[in-house]
Amino acid sequence: MSLDQDAVVVVVFDAYGTLLDVHSAINSQRDLLGDDAQSISDLWRQKQLEYSWLVSLRGDYQDFWALTEKALSYAFKAHDLTTDTPLFQHLLDVYWRLAPYADALPCLTWLKEQGFKTAILSNGGPDMLRGAVESAGISSQLDELISVDELQIFKPSPAVYELPLTEFGVDKNEVLFVSSNTWDAAGAKQFGYQVAWLNRGLSGQLDELPGTPDVQVPSLDALPDLLF
Ligand code: LAC
Repeated sequence: MSLDQDAVVVVVFDAYGTLLDVHSAINSQRDLLGDDAQSISDLWRQKQLEYSWLVSLRGDYQDFWALTEKALSYAFKAHDLTTDTPLFQHLLDVYWRLAPYADALPCLTWLKEQGFKTAILSNGGPDMLRGAVESAGISSQLDELISVDELQIFKPSPAVYELPLTEFGVDKNEVLFVSSNTWDAAGAKQFGYQVAWLNRGLSGQLDELPGTPDVQVPSLDALPDLLF
């Protein structure tokens, strides 16, 4: 695994799970949800992604927010919770303004100081992404928020990974793509990007998937060493 760091012009990040902590919504209600909290959060995320692949393959795109709501509904029902409560709406509200990981802002700030272009490429819709980065306090460190919404298909469709190339006018090897999601890192590598898999300990082994990353990092704090 190695990186051609001199070629990198743009650093493109996945949003959910990479810059934004998808478990922070449920974590904010741990006292209320008790022992089920982690399993609800895991199922919420699992179903959200599963639905994104289902509608992409089936060819009937629905935006990521609609799928996020349906996924929470599934997770509630699977845990014998009613969705007809203020808690359900509250969790969705919190998901709109998820907490950033602590390493996100320092990493993005460093990248901008060094003159790199920065972007998000995400399944989230434009409004969802804008709301998230503004509440997370990282919007001024991001040059572009690129949503799959304009293509009406989700990652890891290769068409989606094409978007940053058009946006920045760069070649594939000039992009360093950073994602904590193994399937996303695999999709980006298959497409031809340089890829750093951010192993936050959230998912399984990328080695099991086609397209191994160029590098694996435990935290975004490791990016300056990679790129310097
Ligand atoms: C994203 C999700 C899938 O695209 O992590 O941001």
